[in-house]
Amino acid sequence: MQPTSPILVTGGTGRLGRHVVARLRDAGCDVRVLSRRSQRPADGIEIVTGDLATGEGIEAAVDGAAVIVHCAGSAKGDEDKARNLVQAASQAGAPHIVYISVVGADRIPVVSRLDRAMFGYFASKLAAERVVADSGLPWTTLRATQFYDLFLLVAQQMAKLPVIPVPAGFQFQQIDEQEVASRLAELALGNPAGLVPDMGGPRVYAMADLLRAYLRATNRRRPIVSLPVPGEAARAIRAGANLAPEQAVGKRTWEDFLAERVGSNS
Ligand SMILES: NC(=O)c1ccc[n+]([C@@H]2O[C@H](COP(=O)([O-])OP(=O)(O)OC[C@H]3O[C@@H](n4cnc5c(N)ncnc54)[C@H](OP(=O)(O)O)[C@@H]3O)[C@@H](O)[C@H]2O)c1
Repeated sequence: MQPTSPILVTGGTGRLGRHVVARLRDAGCDVRVLSRRSQRPADGIEIVTGDLATGEGIEAAVDGAAVIVHCAGSAKGDEDKARNLVQAASQAGAPHIVYISVVGADRIPVVSRLDRAMFGYFASKLAAERVVADSGLPWTTLRATQFYDLFLLVAQQMAKLPVIPVPAGFQFQQIDEQEVASRLAELALGNPAGLVPDMGGPRVYAMADLLRAYLRATNRRRPIVSLPVPGEAARAIRAGANLAPEQAVGKRTWEDFLAERVGSNS
C-alpha cells in the first residue's frame, strides 16, 4: 500500500538516507527530508530545516507524515535524537517509524570508559532502538552492518599513514548502503514489523584484508601492523558480535565496490 501523505526521511541528505529518498521517489511517493541545513528542493521532495538534537523545527517535519524513515544519526546522542523525534511524532498522530540501527547493538557491551570512548556508538544505537520500540507508535527496526562508503573513508585516512595499525582480530561484513536503502524503502511501504532480520554484506573480511584490497586498488604499499585493543566491547567484536553471517543477504562485494569507486586493480 502506498501512503498518500508524505514520507518523512530524517537524514535524507546522508550516505544512506539519500538513497532511501531516491527509492521512495521511484515508488511514486511524496518525500519530505529533514536536514539541519537548508537544501535546494528537488522534484517531489520537500525540505524542512530542523535539528533533532535540539528539537528545533521537528513539529513541521512530522506534520501529516504517515511514515517516518529515521536515518539521521551521528557518532553520539542518537537516543536523544530518537526521543525528540518520537515525542513530536506522537503529538502529531501515529506514524509508522522505520528505524535503521546497527548489527551488534544488542551484543557489544559498553561498560568501561574505554568501551564508551571507542564503541559508545553501539550503546547509543541500542538506546535509540528502545526509545522507538517503547514509543507507543507502530515501528519497524532494521539492523545493518557497516556501509562500504564509510569504510572507504576510514581506508582513505589510514592509507595516509606510513604504517597502518589495525585492531587485532577485528572482522567486518560491510554492505552496500544502496542495498540497505532498498530494504528500508520496502519496509517503509509495508506494515509495521517490529525488529526485522538483520542485514549483512555478502562476505566477512578481516579488517587487514579490507585495507589490503583498498591498497591494491589504489596501487599503494603500506605495512599493516596488528594492535591489541583492550576492553569488553573490543573482545565482543573479536568474537564476531558485529557480524551477521547467517544474514549475508548483500550482493555487492567490497571488491566490486572498490572496482567501481577507486579503480579496477582490486
Ligand atoms: N554508516 C554505517 O556504516 C552504518 C551502519 C549501520 C547503521 N547505520 C545508521 O544509518 C544511519 C545513517 O548513517 P549514514 O552513514 O548515512 O550517516 P551520514 O552519512 O553521516 O548522515 C547522517 C545524516 O543524519 C543527519 N543528522 C545528523 N544529526 C542530525 C540532527 N541533529 N538533526 C537532524 N539531522 C541530523 C544529517 O543531516 P544534515 O547534515 O543534512 O542535517 C545526515 O543526513 C545512522 O543512523 C547510522 O547509525 C550506519
